[in-house]
Amino acid sequence: MTVSNENRLPENVGQNNIDQSLSTFLMNLTNTLTQFFLGAVAFSAIYFVNIFQASSSLKQHVYLCVTGYIILMSQAILSLNPYTSWTKTLKHADKKIIHWVMQITGSVLAIAGSIIRIIDVQTNFTTAHGIVGLVAMIFTFFSLVSGLVNLIYMQFRNHINLTKIVHSVLGSLAISTAYICLCLGFHDLYRNIFGDKNANISIVLAAFALIGTLTSACTNIFRRIFS
Ligand code: HEM
Repeated sequence: MTVSNENRLPENVGQNNIDQSLSTFLMNLTNTLTQFFLGAVAFSAIYFVNIFQASSSLKQHVYLCVTGYIILMSQAILSLNPYTSWTKTLKHADKKIIHWVMQITGSVLAIAGSIIRIIDVQTNFTTAHGIVGLVAMIFTFFSLVSGLVNLIYMQFRNHINLTKIVHSVLGSLAISTAYICLCLGFHDLYRNIFGDKNANISIVLAAFALIGTLTSACTNIFRRIFS
C-alpha cells in the first residue's frame, strides 16, 4: 500500500521537532555545566593563592590572568551563544557590544597579569607553564588586534566573513593555550601544595570548562564557513 506524501508530512514534522528539542536541551545543558565548571576553576585558582604565602606578584598574576581569561574572555565567547542564559533575552547587536567590551577588558587584564609575572621571574620561559603562557599572551594580542579590525569593518555593509573567521580562530587559540597554561600551573606549584587529588580535580574542571567554551566558538566558526 502506498502512502501519500501528504499523509507522511505530520510524522516527519514530529520527528524534526523531537530532534530540535533534543539538540536545544543538549546545548542548554552544555551551557549550564560550562558555567559551573568556569566558576569552580576560577574559585580553585584564586582560593589557592589566597591560602598560602604567595608573593604579591604571584597573587596579582593569578587574579589578573584568571579574571581575564577564565572569567571575562570565556564569558565573552559564551555571550554570543544563543543558549547562554544571561544574554538570551538580548538582541544580537547588544550581545556584540557586550562581547567586544568583555574581550578588550579581559585581554588587557590577562596580558597585564602575564607581564607582571614575566618582570618578577629571574629566568624567563624555562618552565612549560612559562612557555605556554607566553604563547597564550601572543595569541591574545593578535586576537585583540583582529577583534579591533573586525569592529572597524563592522561599520561597512559588505563586511567579509573572513575577518570574523580569523578573529574566531585566533580567539579560540588564545583561550585554549591559556587553559593549557592554567592546567600546567595546577600541575606544578598547586600539586605540591594542595596534593594530587585536588590538582587532578582542578585540571579536569579546567578541561571541561575549555571544551564547553570552545563548543560555543566552534559552532559559530563552522556556521560561518558552511553557510
Ligand atoms: C590562565 C592562567 C595563566 C596564564 C596565562 C599564566 C601565564 C604565565 C606567564 C606568561 C608567566 C611568565 C613566565 C616566565 O617569565 O617564565 C607565568 C609564570 C608563573 N605562573 Fe602563571 N599563568 C596563569 C595562571 C597561573 C596560576 C593559576 C598559577 C598558580 C597556580 C601560576 C603560577 C605561576 C608561577 C609560579 C610562575 C613563575 C614560574 C614559571 O614560569 O612557571 N600561573 N605564568
